[in-house]
Amino acid sequence: MPDAAVPSTSSLTRLRSAAADCRACDLYRDATQTVFGEGPRDAAVMLVGETPGDVEDREGRPFAGPAGRLLDRALEEVGLDREHAYVSNAVKHFKFHREGKRRIHEKPDAGEIAACRPWLRAELSVVRPQVLVVLGATAAATILGRSFRVTKQHGEPLEWADYAESSPLTTDDGPPIDDAVVVATVHPSAVLRSRDRNAAYAGFVADLRAVPRVLSPSS
Ligand code: URA
Repeated sequence: MPDAAVPSTSSLTRLRSAAADCRACDLYRDATQTVFGEGPRDAAVMLVGETPGDVEDREGRPFAGPAGRLLDRALEEVGLDREHAYVSNAVKHFKFHREGKRRIHEKPDAGEIAACRPWLRAELSVVRPQVLVVLGATAAATILGRSFRVTKQHGEPLEWADYAESSPLTTDDGPPIDDAVVVATVHPSAVLRSRDRNAAYAGFVADLRAVPRVLSPSS
């Protein structure tokens, strides 16, 4: 399989159009399209989830389905506007199996995550957010390494510099960014699946409150 052909550019538009032809893992075969990140390149906040779901695969936008609606509501509740944030995923193709007519989400494996990592690295190095929000365990493993535990450190503002050296996003060229505050929290789909959805949502919102707290006043 060819490596992700990431052009050397600071244009998100160019990155997006190159990612549309990505063949670095097999997920492109069954997915409708690459779902690249979206949002302004000068966004102060960048959020990273796991993989697009069924709705995202059809619409070509990250967090466009039920998890995205929950995310939007939570962001609004803590005073953040999704339109001003850059939103992406660790893996940019929908992975699924079929049950009858339904397409059921599957977690990407380590090879698929590694194959897609250069795109996330490129997005991060263009956007250079002040605050990087890590949504769930897959994004956490991709960005902070496999030993990071969202259950232990959710909602805690962390310094990227403390993770840069060991981050899977760091290559021989160095880390994608020099500094940022990292806030990890659960994945919005986990909130939707939770038996006590109200409590899980309240916890999610409480974690996200760390984001406006650490943003500098000008952003
Ligand atoms: N879940 C994700 O992790 N990302 C999406 O874009 C949608 C659902």
